[in-house]
Amino acid sequence: MDTGILHTHHLLAVLLLILVGAPVVFPKGAASLKKLHMVLDTLLILTGAYLLFKAPGAFSPPYLLKYILTIGAIVAGVIGSRRGNRKLSIAAFFLLVYAYGLSLQRDFLLRSEKEQVKAIATQSVSIEGGKQLYQVLCLRCHGADGKAHYRKSPHPMEHPDSNYQAHVIRHGKGIMPSHEYLTDTQVKSLLAYLRTLR
Ligand code: HEC
Repeated sequence: MDTGILHTHHLLAVLLLILVGAPVVFPKGAASLKKLHMVLDTLLILTGAYLLFKAPGAFSPPYLLKYILTIGAIVAGVIGSRRGNRKLSIAAFFLLVYAYGLSLQRDFLLRSEKEQVKAIATQSVSIEGGKQLYQVLCLRCHGADGKAHYRKSPHPMEHPDSNYQAHVIRHGKGIMPSHEYLTDTQVKSLLAYLRTLR
């Protein structure tokens, strides 16, 4: 269900991107697409709102920036096409391209996850370090307490076998990404933190 909504939201964003771009290329044809535009805007906002309440960590800064840009783009796009204002349509198009790019990035403030965790728990194994790593890398699917089950993610302690857990963390599984760049100390810190989530 979550994955379906996420894909639908993604598809709507791409369709809207094309639609907002269209009046820039064909200024005359814009009026006939108004209804379609409204339907797509509404569906994008509805699926977005669903994800906002379902996805753990959906209120973090890069996402907030994305929402502001997207809503701004939609408003500029609607006004632009109503008034036949080409400059506004162009602005809407680029706002939307930028918001879309941000959403693909998924990294905190455009810094890669790898960069962000570089300095965490490098010296010694610690639960606190594990918690920090978890918040950057894992929270968005497993949730703060492991119980989010976003996109069918199980509780990370469902199989409390540390060899298995370390393997999944390193190499990923299904839609869970791999984290092969983590050091042994970092993986052990994550495992130590997971044990507190039972
Ligand atoms: C994109 C979402 C996502 C992210 C990010 C993510 N996981 Fe997962 N995780 C999943 C899903 C989905 C599964 C189930 C995979 C399967 O069985 O196909 C899973 C499985 C696991 C399991 C195995 C659970 C079991 O009993 O089978 C562990 C342990 C785990 N994740 C820990 C973590 C840790 C630690 C992190 C951060 C370093 C993390 N996950 C990041 C989605 C995610």
